Amino acid sequence: MRYYMAPLEGITGYIYRNAYSTYFKRFDKYFTPFLAPHGEKERLTHRERNDVAPEHNEGLYVVPQILTNKSSEFIRVANYLQGLGYDEVNLNLGCPSGTVVSKGKGAGFLARPDELKQFLTEIFDGIDMKISIKTRIGMYDTTEFSELLDIFEQFPLEELIVHPRLREEFYTGSPHREVFHDAVSHAKNKLCYNGDLFLKGQLDAFKQEEPNVEQVMLGRGVLRNPGLLQLAEEGCMPDKMLIKEFHDKLYGDYRDVLPGDRPTLFKMKELWFYMGTLFAGWEETYAKQMRKCNRLSDYERIVKQIFKNQFLENYL
Ligand SMILES: Cc1cc2nc3c(=O)[nH]c(=O)nc-3n(C[C@H](O)[C@H](O)[C@H](O)COP(=O)(O)O)c2cc1C
Repeated sequence: MRYYMAPLEGITGYIYRNAYSTYFKRFDKYFTPFLAPHGEKERLTHRERNDVAPEHNEGLYVVPQILTNKSSEFIRVANYLQGLGYDEVNLNLGCPSGTVVSKGKGAGFLARPDELKQFLTEIFDGIDMKISIKTRIGMYDTTEFSELLDIFEQFPLEELIVHPRLREEFYTGSPHREVFHDAVSHAKNKLCYNGDLFLKGQLDAFKQEEPNVEQVMLGRGVLRNPGLLQLAEEGCMPDKMLIKEFHDKLYGDYRDVLPGDRPTLFKMKELWFYMGTLFAGWEETYAKQMRKCNRLSDYERIVKQIFKNQFLENYL
């Protein structure tokens, strides 16, 4: 099985990718959170350029993801990325956010199949790089996916990463695994599955159900348990203290680059929203303390207690 780190905006940027890769089993590919080109002059924001800077991604196979519905913008950013040394880019057809969808981008692009086909024709003609797509299965109804698949099949995609939820489901309910399964038997493109694989048991079950799928993308499962890959492949969890070392590196690196205590606290709290549930006693004792804390000194005290007193649980 090949494993990809999912793009998670605000979380799996270069700081996270590097800290993760220093301590845990490496992913085969790391997808960046989306780059959203804006305007003709400025290609990307300072933050976005920082995220794809080669010196911030050494030794990792990184695939930058682009969110746009204008082929000229996609091509311009792809050319910029090629100049930095990248040879693969990914198109975001999944973002469910209202502001994105209302502009016909992300999952919103799925409701405009003719425009989408034209866009794909233009980008495949316009650049000489590998292009993959990360998609949802439609806006409102699972039956939308067969027409979309027909379109995707007309292009030489590097791979098609499918998060089998509809836009209007956001991240609620369960992924439509039957729609993905159906696609596996029809699609000629290489397919990668993404969605709700958080535990070893879920990964094992997926492998049994889809023996012909060789790629999975993991997002919240890895945020929750950074040892998930090792657990899935080698059957054992890394020691709790390794997770602490990872935490300390991430914390230190965010403190170094973020402008002040509040943004650092915000980032770390967001991480604990996921990682906390790996620790016994999280819900009863620590979740509320963490939500309420607004000073780094308090944050450090809570984290110290968690690592000292609690064991890891619920990862199988
Ligand atoms: C906070 C957050 C940010 C996300 N940012 C992106 C993004 O920038 N690009 C993208 O394609 N998907 C994004 N996603 C979707 C994830 O990549 C992934 O498809 C989703 O979380 C389902 O996979 P999982 O169940 O393994 O987490 C985001 C999801 C979350 C929860």
